[in-house]
Amino acid sequence: MSTTLTLTRGDITEQAVDAVVNAANSTLLGGGGVDGAIHRRGGPDILEECRALRDGTYFRGLPTGAAVATTAGRLPARWVIHTVGPRFTHQEDRSELLASCYRESLRVADELGARTVAFPAISAGIYGWPMEDAARIAVETVRAAQTSVEEVRFILFDEAAYEAFARQV
Ligand code: AR6
Repeated sequence: MSTTLTLTRGDITEQAVDAVVNAANSTLLGGGGVDGAIHRRGGPDILEECRALRDGTYFRGLPTGAAVATTAGRLPARWVIHTVGPRFTHQEDRSELLASCYRESLRVADELGARTVAFPAISAGIYGWPMEDAARIAVETVRAAQTSVEEVRFILFDEAAYEAFARQV
C-alpha cells in the first residue's frame, strides 16, 4: 500500500493523528524544542512512561536512530513515538542514523497499528542538521519505507522548514 506524504506548517502537539514522533534525546527525560513542547502539552504521564522505559529496557538510554512508543497523555494523538536523531557534525556522515529514525519510527507505528503519523524535522533544530539535507533524508526515507502507515504528515514549524520540505515532495 502506498503512503501519502503531506506537509503542514504548525505545531506537532496539536496534530490529531494516531502517533506523533518526538525528536527526543537518549535520556528520554525531556529537553527543549519538540521534546519540551510534547512533555509540556502532553502532561506528566508521558514522562512517567519514559522513566519506566529508562528503568527497564533502555537503562543505558535510547540509542541514536532507535524509536520507542509511549501513550500520548493529554495530546490529541494516541501515541508518542520517541526517536533520537544524530547531532550534525562535519567530521562524520551520520545520515544513515537520521534515516534510521524515520524507518524505526514507522516500524514502531506499524507495530502499534497507527495509520497516521506526524513527524517533525528530526535533528534540524537543536541538533544542528542543515534543513535542506534533513528534508531530503526525511522524504527519501519515508518514500522508500515498507509500512502500512497511510499518511505521513511532516509538521514544519516555520516557513523555511516548510519550503525545504516542499522542494522534496
Ligand atoms: N512542532 C513542530 N516542530 C517544532 C516544534 C513544535 N512544537 N518545536 C520545534 N520544532 P528540535 P532536534 C522544530 O530542536 O534538532 C531537545 O532538547 C524545530 O524548529 O526539537 O532533533 C531534545 O531533548 C526544528 O525544525 O529537535 C534533544 O536534546 C525541528 O522541529 C534535542 O532537542 C527539530 O528541532 C533534539 O534536537
